Amino acid sequence: CCKCKIGPSMLASDLSDLANEAKCVLAAGCDELHLDVMDGHFVPNITWGSPVIKSLRKNIGEDAFFDCHMMVAKPSQWVKDIGLAGGNRYCFHLEAALSSADSTVPDLCSLIRSCGMQVGVALKPGTSVEAVAPFIALVDMVLVMTVEPGFGGQSFMPNMMPKVVSLRDSYPKLDIQVDGGLSPKTIDVAAKAGANIIVAGSAVFKVKDKAREVIEGLRGSVE
Ligand code: DX5
Ligand code: ZN
Repeated sequence: CCKCKIGPSMLASDLSDLANEAKCVLAAGCDELHLDVMDGHFVPNITWGSPVIKSLRKNIGEDAFFDCHMMVAKPSQWVKDIGLAGGNRYCFHLEAALSSADSTVPDLCSLIRSCGMQVGVALKPGTSVEAVAPFIALVDMVLVMTVEPGFGGQSFMPNMMPKVVSLRDSYPKLDIQVDGGLSPKTIDVAAKAGANIIVAGSAVFKVKDKAREVIEGLRGSVE
């Protein structure tokens, strides 16, 4: 199936050499770049924002698909900047969108589209699929987090798979992404549950010069 996608999480790369790391995984056959934006409020960590994404876009050109995972307390605040910086998908956290007073979920989805990006909505491990059900028609992708967001290198939570199964049963054509602890060891259970967009950080970047092998291995398991 050509709808299966692999998105390396650049957080696990050598950040002092971000553009070359991105070129390396693109050359190794990945489908998109997963860019983890953290604001130190929604999660207890800080990464980067639109200035870094803009520089990366300038360096590597228009072809790569930038999947921006927005672990931020005020998702509506960064939509325009990320769009202008070259983001292709803006994946906000449902928890942040529901608790921040500055926008409703439907307005946020419209804003993202008006800035030319696909809409993704992410669920922390403690958030149920019922919570996202009212908004499925407004989004292109649901991200089922398989770790608590904030840090790379954590263990995959297999107990999130019932959420993937339930979404896949209800929405056969929905893009369902999993993120956190995905590796050649954990991919099978996620693929079997119905996930079709696979994020992997440590698994792709941890072993030097193994990116192509890992990406091809992950893809083979999902297809
Ligand atoms: C965690 C991030 C993930 C993370 C994945 O908050 O959203 O994208 O970088 O890294 P691994 O694959 O190492 O769990
Ligand atoms: Zn992520």
